[in-house]
Amino acid sequence: MNRDPEGKGGTWVRALPSGGGEAVWVEGIPVALGRIDGKPVAVLDDCPDESLPLGASPLAGDRFVCPHHGATFCARTGSFCGAGRARHPDRCSQGLVPVQARTNAQGSIDLLVTTSLRASWESVRRRRPTCSRNMAAWRRSSSAPRN
Ligand code: FES
Repeated sequence: MNRDPEGKGGTWVRALPSGGGEAVWVEGIPVALGRIDGKPVAVLDDCPDESLPLGASPLAGDRFVCPHHGATFCARTGSFCGAGRARHPDRCSQGLVPVQARTNAQGSIDLLVTTSLRASWESVRRRRPTCSRNMAAWRRSSSAPRN
């Protein structure tokens, strides 16, 4: 972990080495990862449709596809691409929260954890239904904290 030398107001945190799609937790924040042409892409692991995780679903080209109802989002920007069978397309239109990612010298991925990213995750936690289905899905999707 090191302070952001580029002055973007955050801390770079090492994620896991990545092949295809992966879901990781960094500093208590769930993040979905992928690579496009070898370059890492990352978003907050929360589909705005029903606030369920994208999890470790591999990218479909340059898109994240939610495994629950098939909403699609641009993996580079998080912008909404298609509703699939989403129950709340209006919510999906907000898109995903992008997370800055880079490949480090060891070939694994660093993620920039910013105040804004923390605030987005806190907002998700507040609006997320207190439904055990959601947390169970998150825990299944990645190395989520068990407490
Ligand atoms: S939860 Fe993602 S499309 Fe419904």
